Amino acid sequence: MTALENERRNPFLEGNLAPVTEEVTAFDLEVTGTLPADLDGRYLRNGPNPIGYVNPAKYHWFTGHGMVHGLRLRDGKAEWYRNRWVRNNDVADLLNEPRPQSDWPADHGQFAANTNVIGHNGKTFAIVEAGSPPIELSYDLDTVRVSNLDGSLPHAFSAHPKKDPVTGELHVMTYFWGWGNQVQYLVVGTDGRVRRHVDIPTTGGPMIHDIAFTQKYILVFDLPAVFNLEAAMSGQGLPYFWDHDYPARIGLLPREGNGDDVKWIDIDPCYLFHPMNAYDDGDEVVLDAARHSKMFDKERRGPSEGPPTLDRWRLNAVTGAHTHERIDDRPQEFPRINESLVGLRNQFGYTAGIGAGFKQDTLIKVNLDSRKVEARNDTARYGYGEPVFIPREGATAEDDGYVMALRLDTETQTSDLAIFNAQAITEDPIAVVHVPARIPNGFHGNWIPDGQ
Ligand SMILES: [Fe+2]
Repeated sequence: MTALENERRNPFLEGNLAPVTEEVTAFDLEVTGTLPADLDGRYLRNGPNPIGYVNPAKYHWFTGHGMVHGLRLRDGKAEWYRNRWVRNNDVADLLNEPRPQSDWPADHGQFAANTNVIGHNGKTFAIVEAGSPPIELSYDLDTVRVSNLDGSLPHAFSAHPKKDPVTGELHVMTYFWGWGNQVQYLVVGTDGRVRRHVDIPTTGGPMIHDIAFTQKYILVFDLPAVFNLEAAMSGQGLPYFWDHDYPARIGLLPREGNGDDVKWIDIDPCYLFHPMNAYDDGDEVVLDAARHSKMFDKERRGPSEGPPTLDRWRLNAVTGAHTHERIDDRPQEFPRINESLVGLRNQFGYTAGIGAGFKQDTLIKVNLDSRKVEARNDTARYGYGEPVFIPREGATAEDDGYVMALRLDTETQTSDLAIFNAQAITEDPIAVVHVPARIPNGFHGNWIPDGQ
């Protein structure tokens, strides 16, 4: 592609990153194989899906309007598929609809809620980072309100709250350019209200996409993708760029500590969107994450600064020393685990292999103890998105359960929800739910059992 062609096109609007134009409702979906009867709930996934004309020279993948796709499974049947744009003011205006109800003053930012979708305290939320509040959805994915979590949210939320399996609370790292050199850590209680917030001083205004925690510490990823005022003033799609002079460091915040209690550990420059997990091992914190060598340096329309790898750091909370090693060098992202072990020692992880142009392709399972890596070999036909692990009812081992992933069938240009035995991901899926539409590659999804 010539430089001019590259300017007129945008890889984040092409192939299975191209947006869809319709909201679909379909019932009684075709299923191949046998859907496990213990799957009673919804698989929901969010992703950018811009409405109408998009200027390819200015479009950043992270800024497209949010669209949530959902499948409802019950009693061995796939009852429905729905996809709905998440209504913020911008989306409502473009769809010619009344603006959504909001708990916030009219001037409170409403960035596209396009990154993740979660269930907490019986409610469903579409969520995003960078200063925006969560948007509550109904069970059927209609927009309910722009939420302030029952009046408890100070300002901004995140795309990656992580549920503590021990307490049921959500740990959340938030950032907002208007705060200057700080980020904010939140704890959301099981009642759905923020019970604690901590301001944490940082070197600049870092983009902190996700959080990790152990039983002792909350991890703060203060890394060199930082807010750039000049770019913001010039209307750049996403004004966060790589800063070669910015110190890369990970903070260890004691669980109930304050901002000045953080122990900072310098690491070699890199960017982490997604930790796989973290846990304590004596004085050390073990962190596994998808590592990018840089972010938003030369390519500023989406993540594409070289292939991400799966890496491990051991951070000594007493001495400040650390080690870093590669676990697996095949390009991969969207790491997930058995979430009953978030913050605790885990043996297995699941990721999506990443091809050229951030195309999601392979379904990967990593044994972190033996370092054995399994990957499916049907990617000539199927591209697998983020895998989600669901424990089997009465599970007796960490990987006793299902791995669920949306995949594009390139022969039919429609998408499937494929469900695998997590102990045999290279074998045929247990069940495939056929969706009568294409679901573009997006960001994050979750299995939300009914009642959560
Ligand atoms: Fe993410």
